[in-house]
Amino acid sequence: MLVNMKNMLEDAVKGGYAIGHFNINNLEWTKAILVAATECNSPVILGVSEGAAKYMGSYNTVVGMVNGLIKDLRIKVPIALHLDHGSYNGTIAAIKSGFSSVMFDGSGYSIDENLVRTMELVELANKNCITLEAEVGAIGGEEDGIIGEGEIASADECKQIATLGITALAAGIGNIHGKYPENWKGLNFDALADIKKEIKDMPLVLHGGTGISDEMIKKAIQLGVAKVNVNTECQIAFAQATRSYIENGSDLVGKGFDPRKLLYPGYEAIKQLVTEKIILFGSDNKA
Ligand code: G3H
Ligand code: ZN
Repeated sequence: MLVNMKNMLEDAVKGGYAIGHFNINNLEWTKAILVAATECNSPVILGVSEGAAKYMGSYNTVVGMVNGLIKDLRIKVPIALHLDHGSYNGTIAAIKSGFSSVMFDGSGYSIDENLVRTMELVELANKNCITLEAEVGAIGGEEDGIIGEGEIASADECKQIATLGITALAAGIGNIHGKYPENWKGLNFDALADIKKEIKDMPLVLHGGTGISDEMIKKAIQLGVAKVNVNTECQIAFAQATRSYIENGSDLVGKGFDPRKLLYPGYEAIKQLVTEKIILFGSDNKA
């Protein structure tokens, strides 16, 4: 059964670890993450961007696929199905379609408009027992057409949005979607500490998890990050595994062209990567 993010994130804050959010794109992706979470006995968050939902069909298709897999694979660990970087209308649609959690990314609006829209969506989410993640201070880089400037969030704005009844807060602290440039300065831990002081026990979300060193991830978790988002790294792992299968000529041997065989190395690669991340974030055996 799907659950919202409330208990898993509150437990993570208390326990000093983080829950992994892994974006999904299709059945293989979803199955790999669900199986890794089960083997690690860890809660996990399945992230779905608006673009990925459209690719798979619709929010309803995604909800049907995820619920079907949870039932058929007898998944018992807590799983949240979470809209990633939702627009105002996309957030409403995901809530109505059966997602258990949503992110409203109002970082492109002025802070005043972000606050108003976030508050409206929190009310709707609460009525449906759905958790809501808000964003302040845009995350840099590009993800599925969402382009952020990479600004550092103001601790005061974080405090304002944290009082609206949200469950988690994504705050820009120098993190970037996609691969980090060679001259990246790293996460701004002073900004993170200032934000944490203002928002107290509100779980913080670290977006752009791909390419941040293990040491920086661990330090961010110590300073209050309770959810880490990873997307690009799974895509790269899937692409590399698929590439070597084809480059080895495995698709030309027997029925190696069968999609169930062709996509298997990519499935295995994601499962392996998600397992490593769960252990790094410390959420193993926390289900
Ligand atoms: O919202 C999703 C994430 O922030 C993923 O970032 O693609 O850099 O891992 P990433
Ligand atoms: Zn993100």
